[in-house]
Amino acid sequence: MSSDSPDNSRRKFLTGSLSLVGGTGAAATLWPFLSSMAPSAKSRAAGAPVKVDISRLKDGEKIDLIWRKKPIWVVKRTKNMLDSINTNEGQHKDPMSENTEQQPDFAKNKFRSLKPEILVLEGVCTHLGCNPAFKSDENKFFCACHGSNFDLAGKVANGSPAGANLKVPPYRFEDENTIIVGELPQSDNESKG
Ligand code: FES
Repeated sequence: MSSDSPDNSRRKFLTGSLSLVGGTGAAATLWPFLSSMAPSAKSRAAGAPVKVDISRLKDGEKIDLIWRKKPIWVVKRTKNMLDSINTNEGQHKDPMSENTEQQPDFAKNKFRSLKPEILVLEGVCTHLGCNPAFKSDENKFFCACHGSNFDLAGKVANGSPAGANLKVPPYRFEDENTIIVGELPQSDNESKG
């Protein structure tokens, strides 16, 4: 098989689009699901929604995937992580998520999410586009390029060179354990989830 055969190209995409921080077991179990759900190269290029199975995502873990060529994170926040999130004006540049370009309407809330425990974010620093690291033990994301800090709702800390909160992409829950990244919730009831 040549190095650029369709099978190899697909394998390269999947290898590059899936990793897990904070645990090792879920990576192996998520692989078959994401492999079977991976969109075709053509639909990926068009920015097709991506389906993510979170049934095996454990508390405190993060899944990385790619949507529209951007890294997307799905984090299952623990109670301790949720408790670390506040809307203190003294700590954040946009504590109430007033910048409407940084999240869909459904995520303009304290946890910037549809469900408190599940966080979905674009993993792109709003300063110059680096990829921040997930510091689960410190309850934050940290961008080492120039030292921006974000809480576990993606809110940028005062004193950071980044000026805006991390973006929340459009997403919805298809069911309790399935997220569709790239589509908005279909009803108000779902957004209140
Ligand atoms: Fe993240 Fe500069 S790109 S702090």
